[in-house]
Amino acid sequence: MNDALAALYPQHIATLRERTDTALARAGFDHLVVPAGRPITKFLDDQDYPFIANPHFKHWLPLTDAPGSWLVYTPGEKPKLVFLQPRDYWHVVPEAPSGYWVDQFDIVVVRKPADAIAELPAALSRCAIVGDQYCNLQEVCANNPPAVIDHLHYHRAYKTPYELELMREASRLGTRGHRAAERAFRQGESELGIHLAYLTAVGQIDAELPYASIVGLNEHGAVLHYTHFDRRAPTESRSFLIDAGASASGYASDITRTYAGSQASEFQSLIDSMDAAERSFAAKVRAGQNYPELHVHAHHVLAGVLRDHGFIRMSPESAVESGVSSAFFPHGLGHGIGLQVHDVGGFQAAETGGTIAKPEGHPYLRLTRDLEPGMVVTIEPGIYFIDMLLAELKSKPFSADIDWAKVDAFRKYGGIRIEDDVVCTTGEPENLTRDAFALL
Ligand code: GLY
Ligand code: MN
Ligand code: MN
Repeated sequence: MNDALAALYPQHIATLRERTDTALARAGFDHLVVPAGRPITKFLDDQDYPFIANPHFKHWLPLTDAPGSWLVYTPGEKPKLVFLQPRDYWHVVPEAPSGYWVDQFDIVVVRKPADAIAELPAALSRCAIVGDQYCNLQEVCANNPPAVIDHLHYHRAYKTPYELELMREASRLGTRGHRAAERAFRQGESELGIHLAYLTAVGQIDAELPYASIVGLNEHGAVLHYTHFDRRAPTESRSFLIDAGASASGYASDITRTYAGSQASEFQSLIDSMDAAERSFAAKVRAGQNYPELHVHAHHVLAGVLRDHGFIRMSPESAVESGVSSAFFPHGLGHGIGLQVHDVGGFQAAETGGTIAKPEGHPYLRLTRDLEPGMVVTIEPGIYFIDMLLAELKSKPFSADIDWAKVDAFRKYGGIRIEDDVVCTTGEPENLTRDAFALL
């Protein structure tokens, strides 16, 4: 893996340099300055929240745990890493830089956060400083010029071969955890027990994961962002929805699977239909595909699944038009993914900015761009039995076209979501998630 990364990294840096050259020229700055960030201290406490590195910093460097370090790039010059390695016997200090990436940088080691400032370009007003509000060491304040940010965010959608290699690794790690979690579910473990099995198999702690894992048994599958972990196992584990990812040098995977207990063949049959539908959507991740259109297409297909399984009696068209499909599938089909699980730039019209509106009636869609080679998106259709949304549906005129006895019988399973991470290429899509499961 490291050999592959070593071979691909110089081209990755060349691409970032090119993008940055354009962004700086357009915005009228001479340097890009990117702080890794600093840990944030809890209110009235001497404890920090887990450190999360600035994604712009991770874009250049596979360093997720180098708080207080800075990247400086000046067009035409080798990028510079100002690396903070404090003298400190209380904490583990970052190891001295080593690995496939170090040759691409001039590296200066500093011992105190404030010493980094002397290593930044003298004319700070000529710097585009991209970072959060906590990087301000008095003299330095993030200015996040929109013209620079827009350009960088728009292009972040197009992953370099180096980034794709790391995303394959994030998927391999995540699927390893998913296999362990399924085993724990089959053994009747609690949600917390399943979560611990997941973490152990992935080899990461919660703070390292790209997002808080969703581990829901039975009705909990209906809570879209269920991040509570029941400590006790239910008397019967009928169904299991797990949405959990892993990180590889700061790149995310985002994977959801749903399983039926051994006594739940009716639920398994619905899972099978959802799985077929999800694969058909993933197969449409192709250059030129408009993502909102794929999302609306998914609504029609899922309405067909609801009808085939006897939940509704109306045509898919009227189910979509009336909003019935949205009561069962109340979130977006997916989003861009990369350095952040919900990657930036999903609505951006052009590298110079602008917004592509969401289709009316679909407020939770996070991606409105056309797909192009190099983009990585999730495909995550779901069907849920959510009490609140079903209650709203019941009061509507088309309520008579819903088989409520059938719907009520499925509330105990919560819901189904199946989520893959898919690369758009010039030909067949590359399904990072399915490929990683197949390798196990
Ligand atoms: N796990 C968050 C999402 O699927 O978008
Ligand atoms: Mn997702
Ligand atoms: Mn997810």
